Amino acid sequence: MAYEHHQVLTLNEQLEHKVAERTAELENTVRELRAAEAQAVHAEKMASVGRLAAGIAHEINNLINFIANSLPPLEETFRDARAILGLHAGGAHDEAARRAELRGLPAAVVEAEAVFHTLRNGVQRSREIVAGLTRFARRDEGEPCREVDVGRLLDSAVDLLRYELDSRIEVVRRYCLDGRLRCYPGALTQVFVNLLTNAAQAIDGKGNITLTTARDAGALTVSVEDSGTGIAPDAVNKIFEPFFTTREVGRGTGLGLAIAHAIVERHRGSIRVEPRAPQGTRFEREKSI
Ligand SMILES: Nc1ncnc2c1ncn2[C@@H]1O[C@H](COP(=O)(O)OP(=O)(O)OP(=O)(O)O)[C@@H](O)[C@H]1O
Ligand SMILES: [Mg+2]
Repeated sequence: MAYEHHQVLTLNEQLEHKVAERTAELENTVRELRAAEAQAVHAEKMASVGRLAAGIAHEINNLINFIANSLPPLEETFRDARAILGLHAGGAHDEAARRAELRGLPAAVVEAEAVFHTLRNGVQRSREIVAGLTRFARRDEGEPCREVDVGRLLDSAVDLLRYELDSRIEVVRRYCLDGRLRCYPGALTQVFVNLLTNAAQAIDGKGNITLTTARDAGALTVSVEDSGTGIAPDAVNKIFEPFFTTREVGRGTGLGLAIAHAIVERHRGSIRVEPRAPQGTRFEREKSI
């Protein structure tokens, strides 16, 4: 009897040891999986940075061209003003007045003020574009969960895609009054960039994208609706699968929605699609506070 009892104890000990070993292994696997997921999320984000880069470079280039074209007239005004000040300093006031009149200096100075204003806006806009891209490109692992206004995240996603949306697509915003949400802002912006990218790609020529936020009994619903081609019925069940894409080879990896799904799950929210072909597509993500 004593021998059996001893045997049971030993077996129990061995079992506990095995369980502890397996638990450690499992914890390790979970850690590795988390790291792999974070890596996949970041890689997909870098792919969208690549896609966005062409449009953003174009937009910044337009601003640089504008700045470059504004400089010569400003320099001319400055040169005239310096010459006229020189005449004044030498006591040739009449000649200075004549030259100022001849060169249209008063009007040029007023014009210069307007140009400075536009230049300042252009520089500010370039700064915002670069800051938006830098913020988006940042690694989100370890990003703290904090309360933000979801409308602002949607706006920053629209801003990143501004060039792609261009004048072709009208973005209609229907934000509710209280759009506050505790979330990982960088990751959620990525969800919106992915949904907006798909929406823009689904629209041939002109169309519109409607962004809606709604609060109902503590839950916040965000929807991204487009007037595009809609999703083919046989594709609807597959769109959240990793690597499912209907785009030409080299044009899509099929990860956009899989990543969006993973991020929304991390927020304990849900994401669903309402395909209403041919009128377009509506994606909804919901999160209770
Ligand atoms: N708004 C939409 N309208 C129509 N079809 C859509 C829409 N959003 C997604 N889809 C369909 O779902 C598929 C999967 O989308 P997902 O974003 O996961 O990958 P992708 O856009 O093909 O590639 P990636 O996002 O990696 O560049 C798309 O190929 C497309 O067929
Ligand atoms: Mg996509």
